[in-house]
Amino acid sequence: MLDRPFQAPSLDQHALARGLSGHHFIGGHFVSALSGRTFAVHNPATGELVAQAAEGDAADVDAAVTNAAIAQKTWARLPARKRGAMVAQCAGLIREHVEELARLIALETGKALRTESRVEANTVADILEFYGGLGSELKGESVPFAPEILSVTVREPLGVVGAIIPWNVPMLLMALKIAPALVAGNTVVVKSAEEAPLTVLRICELMGRILPPGCFNMLSGYGPECGAPLVSHPKIRKVTFTGSAEVGRIVSKTAADKLIPVTLELGGKSPMIVFADCEFDTTVGGAITSMRFTRQGQSCTAASRIYVERPIFDAFVDALAAKVDAMVMGDPLDEKTDIGTIISREQFDKVQRYIDEGLSTKGASGRACSALPADPALKKGLFIRPHIFTGLSNESRLVQEEIFGPVTCIFPFDDAEAVLTAANDSEYSLAASVWTNNLRVAMSLAHRLEAGLVQINQNLVVQANLSYGGVKSSGLGKEASLEAMLEHFMHKKTIMVNYQ
Ligand code: NAI
Ligand code: MG
Repeated sequence: MLDRPFQAPSLDQHALARGLSGHHFIGGHFVSALSGRTFAVHNPATGELVAQAAEGDAADVDAAVTNAAIAQKTWARLPARKRGAMVAQCAGLIREHVEELARLIALETGKALRTESRVEANTVADILEFYGGLGSELKGESVPFAPEILSVTVREPLGVVGAIIPWNVPMLLMALKIAPALVAGNTVVVKSAEEAPLTVLRICELMGRILPPGCFNMLSGYGPECGAPLVSHPKIRKVTFTGSAEVGRIVSKTAADKLIPVTLELGGKSPMIVFADCEFDTTVGGAITSMRFTRQGQSCTAASRIYVERPIFDAFVDALAAKVDAMVMGDPLDEKTDIGTIISREQFDKVQRYIDEGLSTKGASGRACSALPADPALKKGLFIRPHIFTGLSNESRLVQEEIFGPVTCIFPFDDAEAVLTAANDSEYSLAASVWTNNLRVAMSLAHRLEAGLVQINQNLVVQANLSYGGVKSSGLGKEASLEAMLEHFMHKKTIMVNYQ
């Protein structure tokens, strides 16, 4: 067992990263991997080594799940409001550490501090606060069955929840899973993403000051070696996963063998539909937000297909390109920076391949926007210039596949029915947005777009209290709402009392 590093908030993200090195969080303690193995964590803006993370395997999984299973018995017997109050208290502690968490996540993921990292840290607190207030809502029903037989349903937790998270918004996506799971009376084992194991581990330490030991555990490690044994562990009674559709299918198959429920939040290829009567400037700004350019497009809801009504098509493409050109790409920790880096060399190469393919496609043209940072300290950084493509066909891989990078494809359209068909012509169906001053047209599309979330004249990221989750290959189940907690982290038990 190792000492807990950094009791007070620390703004030295390098020291913090080193201090968090080599640890899982199991049973309320920082512990090394049982194998003693670690793997390297790099700063994607410079290429420098910032930490070594514990490399978990099945033995660590077993230790974490065993601790969580023991803790669950006691945790579930606490009054629900008490559990909620503790989760809300964690939110307070996270608020005190927002700056610290933001700097650390910027270091390990390359996401810009001002536009992304600080926002993410605040949203984590928001989500914990929201779920923390819902302890009283875990209600059942009374069921009319027969006189003098009282029939009621009560909601009960599922047991130990396995949560597997990705690297793009790791703190936030973790919060969407752990907060409802815990308030509902489950305990949790999280498997962090190998690219971003540090900030979420720091959150364990913060929450560990408030929650009883074993309620909340975390392992770092690779997917097949650490994630897969978590899913298949016999004591895991529910899995909640965010990541690629490919791994979502693997997770889902294992869960099916065990007959346990899964929630899957997978990829997207979200359409943005822009009519000529939209508020032009707002909508151009909306395309920047929708495409999540400040997150280098590394978002499952990124508007990677933009359909623009023909009369304003050219003007829209020019205005969008000019706006992206004005964005500053640079050191994620610099307050001036709008756009940071891609997470890893693997993702960088993948995004670059799509860009190269688009640039060499006959009839297509791609505009590279913004500018690579000039600072020599960043010359090894994984920076990619945002690209805006026009002239691609619907069959192009760039249009059909999730790129997860700063690449969007823009198409002209002539009528609402045709654009609806094009928008729905995708394996994915996570989110969509429609931009117009004609509410009748907007609502007609909103009802017929295949998506879990449709927004009119805005395109916000996930918000506490609003149900979030896709259909088709984008996933299974919802997150972020009361309904998500009740339906995905609890089951209903019927109790009948015969008092005849
Ligand atoms: P991934 O799906 O491989 O990784 C996500 C998480 O799953 C990580 O924690 C990973 O360790 C774990 N994992 C991997 N294999 C596993 C297995 N066999 N069993 C259990 N857990 C496993 O995603 P990756 O490789 O990081 O990114 C590839 C693509 O996935 C991206 O380009 C993007 O298209 C998509 N993606 C979508 C995300 C979303 O928010 N929906 C987030 C991250 C990636
Ligand atoms: Mg993968």
